[in-house]
Amino acid sequence: MLRIDIHSHIIPDKLPRFAEKFGYDGFIHLEHHRQGYAKMMIGNRFFREIEENCWSADRRFTDLERNHIDVQVICTIPVMFNYWAKALDALETSRFLNDHIAGVAAKYPKRFVALCTLPMQDPQLAIQELERCMKDLNMAGVQIGSHINDWNLSAPELMPFFEACERLNASLFVHPWDMMGSKTMQRYWLPWLVGMPAETSRAICSMIFGGVFERLPNLRVLFAHGGGAFAGSLGRIMHGFNARPDLVAIDNPYPPTKYLGQFWVDTLVFDPTMLQLNLNLFGAGRVALGSDYPFPLGELNTGALVESMNLDETILNQIYYKSALAWLNRKEEDFI
Ligand code: CO
Repeated sequence: MLRIDIHSHIIPDKLPRFAEKFGYDGFIHLEHHRQGYAKMMIGNRFFREIEENCWSADRRFTDLERNHIDVQVICTIPVMFNYWAKALDALETSRFLNDHIAGVAAKYPKRFVALCTLPMQDPQLAIQELERCMKDLNMAGVQIGSHINDWNLSAPELMPFFEACERLNASLFVHPWDMMGSKTMQRYWLPWLVGMPAETSRAICSMIFGGVFERLPNLRVLFAHGGGAFAGSLGRIMHGFNARPDLVAIDNPYPPTKYLGQFWVDTLVFDPTMLQLNLNLFGAGRVALGSDYPFPLGELNTGALVESMNLDETILNQIYYKSALAWLNRKEEDFI
């Protein structure tokens, strides 16, 4: 049985000194301070230490084989989005990253599927780069953040971008980043434990209430981390829709439950009750195996939760590859 991991991150082993090139700070660079490890730095500030498996495709194969993963979807690390930067500079960093990600997938076309990153602060530039990635680089789609600076994903400014994704048949992966409340909850890793699930629900609710799914029924969107807090809050969200339509249903008259089964989520929830809830809500054909490799908050023994649940083979086939193939618009034969 084919196994596809739809959620993993990759970075080139060398990054240009973008801060020096553009003349302002905030861009990530790498310091390879010891064999097999590098520090992600923002100026002089340490962001995170990463290991060789973050940049080396060859090093990944050891882990992929151990976890019986045949295909991995690769995209950048959200801190590399650079949505805060000048748009033309973010276009340049995006192009650099996209050429790298596409290059890895081109070298191992049966093992990796590539998603691009885009200068979303300028939707026209983003569409231009998306076209290059889809037409010239053979990428499958794009990863974006759960919001773009001050825009939620319901922003009218972003609608042409979503239309372009549908027109170009690009898979859209929505990943939490720039977590709400971060400044006031640094302790206990709360941006990752509380902020990220809230961000993902913010993205889903914005796309539902903003009418994105209503207007673009063929847009294929997958939300990270099992859709974050969305499933656990759905009762409240529905009650709010029914109790205060004057606040909630102002841009789309239809209830959120109408869109269950229209978008995908990954399996990254670490709890069988939660995964079962997602299977019930979204359908097994809309739940795809995802690990967040190679980061420590990911499921590094990829598939362990799914394997622990005694699911029947039809459902396992969907989770392991059929949901992913449908989202990615790819066929099983593409990887055999
Ligand atoms: Co991730």
